[in-house]
Amino acid sequence: MKDINLELEARRETARLGGGQRRIDSQHAKGKLTARERIELLLDEDSFEEFDMFKAHRCTEFGMENDRPAGDGVVTGWGTINGRMVYVFSQDFTVFGGSLSETHAEKICKIMDMAMQNGAPVIGINDSGGARIQEGVASLAGYAEVFQRNIMASGVVPQISVIMGPCAGGAVYSPAMTDFIFMVKDTSYMFVTGPDVVKTVTNEVVTAEELGGASTHTKKSSVADGAFENDVEALSEVRRLVDFLPLNNREKPPVRPFFDEPGRIEESLGTLVPDNPNTPYDMKELIAKIADEGDFYEIQEDYAKNIITGFMRLEGQTVGVVANQPMVLAGCLDIDSSRKAARFVRFCDAFEIPILTLVDVPGFLPGTSQEYGGVIKHGAKLLFAYGEATVPKVTVITRKAYGGAYDVMASKHLRGDFNYAWPTAEIAVMGAKGAVEILHRADLGDAEKIAQHTADYEDRFANPFVAAEKGFIDEVIQPRSTRRRVSRAFASLRNKKLTNPWKKHDNIPL
Ligand code: HXC
Repeated sequence: MKDINLELEARRETARLGGGQRRIDSQHAKGKLTARERIELLLDEDSFEEFDMFKAHRCTEFGMENDRPAGDGVVTGWGTINGRMVYVFSQDFTVFGGSLSETHAEKICKIMDMAMQNGAPVIGINDSGGARIQEGVASLAGYAEVFQRNIMASGVVPQISVIMGPCAGGAVYSPAMTDFIFMVKDTSYMFVTGPDVVKTVTNEVVTAEELGGASTHTKKSSVADGAFENDVEALSEVRRLVDFLPLNNREKPPVRPFFDEPGRIEESLGTLVPDNPNTPYDMKELIAKIADEGDFYEIQEDYAKNIITGFMRLEGQTVGVVANQPMVLAGCLDIDSSRKAARFVRFCDAFEIPILTLVDVPGFLPGTSQEYGGVIKHGAKLLFAYGEATVPKVTVITRKAYGGAYDVMASKHLRGDFNYAWPTAEIAVMGAKGAVEILHRADLGDAEKIAQHTADYEDRFANPFVAAEKGFIDEVIQPRSTRRRVSRAFASLRNKKLTNPWKKHDNIPL
C-alpha cells in the first residue's frame, strides 16, 4: 500500500513538471507562466480539481511511443472563481509545444461536456503550436470535436478564451467561436497563416506581432476583446469578468453586495452635455456616474471607440451597457461600431443580462467606404440584435437621436421597456442644418432666412417633447437623477417575461 502511494506521488510529481524543468525555465524566460501556474492564478486558492492528469497520447509514429508525457500537453479540470464553479483547460507549451493531439482534444472535450451538463463556464487558456504534427488527421479530428462543442455550448454556458502564446492555423477557430478572447501583449499571437506563408503568397513582410499580436486584434481586427500587459493581469481580469456573468443561460447573473446609494443624485450631470450641440463630451463620465461604485468593465475598449460596450452593476445586479461616444466620430454608427455592439447585445440577451443603452447618435457614417463595406448589412445586425432581445431594455437619450440610428439604438419601437430622454435630447430625422438645406433649398443664398428656418426647426424638433407627446419617450428625466431612474426601471423589470415566436433559428444578417 505504501509503495503504491509513493508511486502515485512520484507520478503526480512528474506530471506536474510537464515537459521538464529546462522547458519550464524557457517558458519563464519568455515572460510566460506555465499552464499550472496560470490555473493557480485564475482560480480560488486550492479550488482546482484536476481530470486526466495521467492521460497520455496513443501515437506510435515517429518514435512517439517512447515519449508519452503524463497529461499530454493540457491541464484540465474545474475550480471556482470567487466561489462560483468554472471549468478550465490550460495548454502546456512545455509538452510538444502544447500541440493538440487526439487525446489532448479528448481531455478538452471531457471538461466541455461536463460544463454543459453541469451549467458552468468554460475558460480555455491557449498556448499551442497547433495540430500535433506527428498525429496528422487524428489531430485535425480532435480540433473538429472541440469546435463542435464550442458551437453547442454557445449561448448555453459562457466561453472565455485567453491567448497566452501561439494560436495559429485552424486552431484559431475554437477561440473565435467563444464569447470573449483576451490576449497578452508581446507573448501571444493569433493568425490563420503565419508570416512565412504570408511572405510566400503575397510577398508581404510582416512580423508575427504585427500580423496577429494583441494590439492588432484589439485595435484593427476586433478578433480579441482585451489586451493585457502580462499573464497575471490577464488572468485577474478574467476573474473580474466572470463575476459579472451567470454560470449558464438558465441562471440569473450573480447579485453582489453593493455599497452605493441607488438613489444617488449626480448634480454634475446637469452640465455634462455642452450648450453647443457639436461639442463632444465623454459618455464614460455618465456610465461611471450611473454604475454601482463607478465600476465599469469595458469590452473591446480599443476598437470602434465611437461605441462603448461593457458591464456595470446596478443595485448589485449585472447590466450590459451600450453607449454612443460623442468623443469619437461624433458617436455615429458605422460598420465597426454596429458589429461590435450587435455581438455584445446578443451576448447579453443569450445570458439574460439586462441592457442599458445611452444614446447620443447623429446617424450613420456616410461614405463610399461604408457603403462598399456593407454598412447596410452591418447596421442591420445591431438593429436585429436589439429587436430580437427579450431581456429588460432601458434607454436614455442624452442628446442626439437622429434618423435610422434613433430607431436602432433600443428605441421604444424595438420593444424598449423604458425609454427616457434628458431635456437636452434632440429626436429628429436629422440635425437642423441638414434639414433646412433640404426643406428650404430656395433660400440657401439668404443667410438671414436660413438662420430663421434653422431656429424654427430647432424650436420644433431639437427637444424630446415631440417624441414624448407620442409616447415614444416614456419620461423626460433630469440628468442628475439618471442613476435612480434607471435603477428603478431595471428593478421593475426583474420578472420580465417575453418570448419570440417559435423558429428553428433566426437569419440575422451575418
Ligand atoms: C508537434 C510541436 C508542434 C506541433 C511545436 N512543437 N509545434 N510538436 N506538433 N505542431 C514542439 C517542437 O518540436 C518543440 O519540441 C517544442 O514544441 C517547442 O517548439 P519550438 O519550435 O522550439 O518553440 P518556439 O521556437 O517557441 O516556436 C513555437 C512555434 C513553432 C512557433 C509554435 O514550434 C512552430 O511553428 N510550430 C509548428 C506550428 C504549426 O505549423 N502547426 C500546425 C499548424 S496547422 P522540443 O522537443 O524541441 O521541445 C494547424 C491546423 C489545425 O494547427 C487545424 C484545425 C482544423
